[in-house]
Amino acid sequence: MKKIALYPGTFDPITNGHIDILKKATEIFDHVVLAVAEDTGKNTQFSLDERKKLCTEATAQIERVKVDSFPGLVVDYAKKIGAVAMIRGLRAVSDFEYELQIALMNKQIDSGINTIFLVPDYKYLYLSSSLIKQIIRLGGVLDEFIPPCVGQALKAKTNNTDNC
Ligand code: COA
Repeated sequence: MKKIALYPGTFDPITNGHIDILKKATEIFDHVVLAVAEDTGKNTQFSLDERKKLCTEATAQIERVKVDSFPGLVVDYAKKIGAVAMIRGLRAVSDFEYELQIALMNKQIDSGINTIFLVPDYKYLYLSSSLIKQIIRLGGVLDEFIPPCVGQALKAKTNNTDNC
């Protein structure tokens, strides 16, 4: 039976750090569903459709990956797609407490879903979507950390805001 993993996140926007984790997950599982969460409690810069579109474009070359989005609880979505595990990236020790909380809470809601933590390559350890957004907004260049489509989308957002 094919093993499906779910890689959920806000992806506001997707970065090369996320893509690095995704590629590692495809080396372990037969299929990986990268799913953009609708309900994250975050005030996102990109709409759900925009985040999903950027994820689709940025991962188009990676085999055995499907991009989707989901409303409601991540464990319900995991069950719906028949995922055997949930993938989360663990960058630094500071991620651990938050990630453990999410993993344990998800396990409490549905004991059938296990979380697997993957560590990104060294160069992505200090990357986050918030930092990327801030640096691009202030005119910085981060080409090696974001897919080209994300760079363009962020610049377009910045220009639109400047014109308001
Ligand atoms: N490389 C670079 N950055 C990374 C990364 C990596 N490998 N892994 C995580 N990050 C960053 C993200 O960019 C993001 O940065 P930001 O906070 O500056 O935006 C941060 O780490 C975490 O974002 P993300 O990985 O997208 O996860 P999240 O914590 O925003 O999303 C969900 C968590 C989607 C899994 C959670 O909100 C959820 O499950 N929602 C559905 C509702 C639900 O079931 N809630 C109950 C959960 S217990």
